[in-house]
Amino acid sequence: MPRLLTVQDLVVEVPGRNIKILNGVSFSLDAGQTLGLVGESGCGKSMTCYAIGNMLPRGLGQAGGSISFGSGESGSERPTIAMIFQDPTSSLNPVHTIGYYLETALYRHQRLRGNDARLEAMRLLERVGIDNAKSRLGAYPHQFSGGMNQRVMIAHALAAKPQLLIADEPTTALDVTMQAQILYLLEELKAETGMALMIVSHDLGVIARLADKAAVMYCGKIVETAPVEQIIQNPSHPYARALINCMPSIDPADHQPPVPIPGSVPLLDDLPQGCYYNPRCPRAAGECFKRFPPLAPVAQAHNVACYHPVAA
Ligand SMILES: Nc1ncnc2c1ncn2[C@@H]1O[C@H](COP(=O)(O)OP(=O)(O)O)[C@@H](O)[C@H]1O
Ligand SMILES: [Mg+2]
Repeated sequence: MPRLLTVQDLVVEVPGRNIKILNGVSFSLDAGQTLGLVGESGCGKSMTCYAIGNMLPRGLGQAGGSISFGSGESGSERPTIAMIFQDPTSSLNPVHTIGYYLETALYRHQRLRGNDARLEAMRLLERVGIDNAKSRLGAYPHQFSGGMNQRVMIAHALAAKPQLLIADEPTTALDVTMQAQILYLLEELKAETGMALMIVSHDLGVIARLADKAAVMYCGKIVETAPVEQIIQNPSHPYARALINCMPSIDPADHQPPVPIPGSVPLLDDLPQGCYYNPRCPRAAGECFKRFPPLAPVAQAHNVACYHPVAA
C-alpha cells in the first residue's frame, strides 16, 4: 500500500516557555492502514492528532520536525482528513439541526445542495445506523443520545470522503454496548471505503480490536511501535508491558488482578533527566538516567525506545 502519512521528529511546544508537548514524535501510516495510538491521559495523543489535522490550539506551535503526506516528494497532495472526537454532543453546534450540519458539510466537500444534499444526508444517517433518517434531519443534538451523536459525527466525517479518519477516543464517553457498536461501524466503514484510520485510545482493548499497528506514547514521545499483535503479546518497552498488565481480564479463571503502574506521569515542565519513564521503571539503570533512548528496531517493524527492553 502506498504511504499516506509520515510524521518525523515532530515537536510541538508552548512558545516562550520551555515546554515540549510533543517531543520528537515519529511514525508512518500507509493508505488503508489502521494505527492505534495509546498512552495515559496527557501524553500528547490528542495534540498529535491536532498537529496532523492542522488544528493545534491557539498558542501552540510546531517547533520542529515534519508532517508529510503521500510519498513526501514535492507535489504530493495532502489527503482529505476527517476527525471525530471524544465527546460528540459538545462537538456539535446545539443551535443547528442534524440536517443542517450534514448538508453544510455535503455542500463544502461535494458541492451538493437542495434535494441532492438532503437525500445524501439521509443516506449517510442510515448508513451510520440512524433509523427514520428523514424525520431525524430536523432534530437537534440535545434530542439525540451520545451514541447517536457520535454516529452523526461519523456521517459528517464521511461527507468529506476522507482518505484518513482520525478518531480521538471515539468511544470513551459511551457505554460499553454503544462502544462495541461504534467500533463495529468504524470497521465496516473502513472496509467499505478503504480509508486509513488513526484511532486514539487509552484502552488497549479498543486498539487491539481495530488497529493493524500500534504506537505507545509517553510524555510527548513514542516509546514503542509494532504490529498490534506484537505489542499485545510481546510488549518490549517496560511501559507498554505495564499498560497491558493494567488491563482487567473478564475471564473468571484468570485470578491475576490488574497491576497498577506505580507513581504518576511527570509534569512536562519537570521531566526527569534521561528516560522520562525512569522514576516508574523497574528496569532503569545507568544510561537510563542520562539520555532519552532513541527509537531502535528490536524486530521486523518493531521499534522501541529503551536501553533495557523486555526480551521476547
Ligand atoms: N492549549 C494548551 N496549552 C498548553 N498545554 C496544553 C494545551 N492543551 C493541552 N496541553 C497539554 O498538552 C499535553 C498533551 O495533551 P493531550 O494531547 O490533550 O493529551 P492526551 O490526548 O494524550 O490525553 C498535556 O500535558 C496537556 O496538559
Ligand atoms: Mg486526548
